[in-house]
Amino acid sequence: MVRAPWETRSCRKQTAQPRAERRRRPPSKDAQTTGALRRQILWLSNRLNRVWKLRPWNGWAEHYDDNNPMIAAEECVVTPRLAELFTPGAAALDAGCDTGRHSAALADISYHVIGTDLTPAMLNIARAKVPAAEFREGLFENLPVDDNAVDLVTSALAVCHALDLSVVFNEFARVLRPGGRILLSGPHPTAGQIGGQAFLSGEGFDLPHVRNHAQPISDYVTAMTGTRFHIDSLVELPYDAMTLEMNPGHKFYPQVVDGALKGLPFVLIWEATLT
Ligand SMILES: C[S@@+](CC[C@H](N)C(=O)[O-])C[C@H]1O[C@@H](n2cnc3c(N)ncnc32)[C@H](O)[C@@H]1O
Repeated sequence: MVRAPWETRSCRKQTAQPRAERRRRPPSKDAQTTGALRRQILWLSNRLNRVWKLRPWNGWAEHYDDNNPMIAAEECVVTPRLAELFTPGAAALDAGCDTGRHSAALADISYHVIGTDLTPAMLNIARAKVPAAEFREGLFENLPVDDNAVDLVTSALAVCHALDLSVVFNEFARVLRPGGRILLSGPHPTAGQIGGQAFLSGEGFDLPHVRNHAQPISDYVTAMTGTRFHIDSLVELPYDAMTLEMNPGHKFYPQVVDGALKGLPFVLIWEATLT
C-alpha cells in the first residue's frame, strides 16, 4: 500500500517539533493579552447567549400549565401509553420536562424519574410539584445523564425547539439501555408551517412566542434510524374544536381559521425502540 508522507512514522518524527521544546517556549506578551481578551469575550458571549435563550422560557414558566390545547391533545394518547410501557423497577427520563407534567405522571406510575430541562425557572416548579423525581439542568443535545441509565425516554412538545434532531436522538440512544423505548410528542410540522408556534400569553396582535422548528417527518425518520432506533409507530392527531378555538386568529376570523385548519395534522407522537 502506498502511504502519504504524513502517514509514515519516520515522516512524523522528522517534521514534528518535540513536545518538551514546544512547552518550554513561553507565549509572547501580545499573545497572552490577546488570549485573555478572547477568553473574556467568549465567556461574555456565552453568558449573553444563555440569558437571551432563557428569556422567553423563564417568562413562560409561570403560565405553562394554563390552558394549552397541544397538551390536552397529546395527553390523551401519551399518558395511558406511559402506563402500558411500565415494567417494575423501570427508570424513565423526561427530557425537556418543563414544569414536570409527564414527570408527575411517570412518578405516579412508579417509574424512577429523572427530568431534565434547559430552564431553571421551569425546573423549580417541577421540583416543588414532583418531589419523588430527580431534576437536572441540561440540554437534550448534551444530557446530564449517564450512558445506559434508563429504560424509557419521554419527551413532550420539546425537541421541536432543537436545531438538529440527530444530535438529540444520538443522546437518547446513549442514555437508553438496549431495548429501551422512546415515546415522543411534538407539534406536527404542518402546524409549524402554517404559523403554529409556542405562543406565550399575549393579547390581540401582541403574540410573544418561542420558535417551533418545522422539522419535516423525514428529519425524524433520518435521525431515529441513523441512531439505531426502530420506529414502532407514528400517530398524527388532527386539529380539534378546542384547538381551533384557541388559535390566535380565531377571535378575528373564526370561519377562516376553522375552514383552513380543520382536519389538518396538529400533533405527532412517535414510538421507537433502541435496537
Ligand atoms: C413546550 S415546553 C415542554 C413541555 C413539557 N415537556 C410538557 O410535558 O409539557 C419546552 C421545554 O423545552 C425546554 N427546552 C427548549 N430547548 C431545550 C434544549 N435545547 N434542551 C433542553 N430543554 C430545552 C424549555 O426550557 C421548555 O421547558
